Amino acid sequence: MTVTIVGAQLGDEGKGALVDRWGGPPDVVVRFQGGDNAGHTVVNDGQEYKLSLVPSGAVRGKTGVLGNGCVVNPRTLFSEVDGLRDRGLNPNVRVARRAHVIMPYHRVLDSAEEGEKEDDDLEAGTTGRGIGPTYEDKAGRRGVRVGDLLNPDVLRNRLEYVLPRTRLLAEEVYGLDLDGAETPDLPVDLADAFDLDWLHTKFAEYGRRLRGEEMTIDCGSYLVERYAAGDRILFEGAQGTSLDIDHGGYPYVTSSNPTAGGAAVGSGVGPGVVGQGEVVGIVKAYLSKVGTGPMPTEIDGSLADEVRERGGEFGTVTGRPRRIGWLDLPMLRHASRASGFTGVAVNHLDVLAGLDELRVAEAYKIDGERFAVPPATAEQWAACEPVYREFTPWPEFDGRATASEGIEALPAAARDYLDYLSETVDAPVYAVGVGPDRAETIEVANPWSDG
Ligand code: GDP
Ligand code: IMO
Ligand code: MG
Repeated sequence: MTVTIVGAQLGDEGKGALVDRWGGPPDVVVRFQGGDNAGHTVVNDGQEYKLSLVPSGAVRGKTGVLGNGCVVNPRTLFSEVDGLRDRGLNPNVRVARRAHVIMPYHRVLDSAEEGEKEDDDLEAGTTGRGIGPTYEDKAGRRGVRVGDLLNPDVLRNRLEYVLPRTRLLAEEVYGLDLDGAETPDLPVDLADAFDLDWLHTKFAEYGRRLRGEEMTIDCGSYLVERYAAGDRILFEGAQGTSLDIDHGGYPYVTSSNPTAGGAAVGSGVGPGVVGQGEVVGIVKAYLSKVGTGPMPTEIDGSLADEVRERGGEFGTVTGRPRRIGWLDLPMLRHASRASGFTGVAVNHLDVLAGLDELRVAEAYKIDGERFAVPPATAEQWAACEPVYREFTPWPEFDGRATASEGIEALPAAARDYLDYLSETVDAPVYAVGVGPDRAETIEVANPWSDG
């Protein structure tokens, strides 16, 4: 059986917490898209783990797989693996040989292009991790893959092709002085980031470590074999539906498919394997957003500050304060359809307790016309006026006690809110987050219970 966990909104919905909560039964936890732009938090017994690349299942000692749909920065990979070892864990991480490698020059190009786009208000506010440029090289059939790191001759050949054009792009299009003293926020010298010999030596070294620790796999074959042997697989989505390159608010998106279809393409199992399992949308009870782009229910002022502070809404990766908004049901209808949610988990219900007012957007309007889902263009989406429905805010409650007593112990107003949400997305509520700790989740149904 499989369970696929995907973000229903704009990322940071608390996916890591649910991957951990439901991380007991599965044998394998698979990331299928994105890279170290993600920041997934697991809190258990007061111990906090923040993971960008290594699947959150590593905290429970599960095999963690980075699928072919991921983009992998080996530096991040090894620093997270080493960091977990330092904390006494023994992460077992496997990496698809078909996954693409984030090279230092991708990070340089990421910030250079964001800078260029600023004048036209087209920048996505990326995490600066080189995600977009790496996927561009993948689609352009000029990328370096994890499998290439294992063979120094092949690696050299790939770099010899890609580097001259990449240098040209950096120097002639973005006007960077690669040999100059000015370096952007990068863990390597700018000159090294574009230097054939430096890159070859460094990345062949990563290849030796990957080989030495037997970390690389043919992901599809590996997973299908484990599935056939009866192993349970948990697919851990990163980002969220409205950041999906196809289904999100393009161009203010990431460069991969965080929706459930990505779990098949990005791991090499058939869509039926994913479709026969559970697909759980992770929903934050309000909205938060790190980057730019339309957000019709955005709020500011003291109310937004209160939610931001109580919810700790500062980026896991970048530390940036997150934008805050009311729950947006058009966004959720769209997410539920795009991924086919069989259930949802609603997090951060505790953060809304005790507020003076509480609203959700049940639809949008543009010039009097009603929209039940976001329009397909960012310009139209930005023009949407939310149609709000008011809810009675619920009083503060004890998260840990409520989690052990069950959903009936929640204040009635909170249950009304959840019922309305569940009806709208046409999927049952499997879990409710009332705090960050593993023990602060109210479990209504366990998606593994059928398998
Ligand atoms: P992810 O990217 O979807 O895994 O989410 P992040 O880890 O980036 O952000 C979610 C943050 O909220 C983390 O700090 C979590 O520990 C925390 N969190 C998760 N669920 C809840 C919840 O139900 N209530 C509260 N207050 N915090 C939560
Ligand atoms: P998790 O998995 C929230 C946003 C960035 C930017 C856009 C593109 O923790 O939910 P990128 O670096 O991917 O090219 O940036 O996507 N973004 C996220 N926002 N959570 C994330 O991951 C994100 N990953 C990328 O802020 O707007
Ligand atoms: Mg996050």
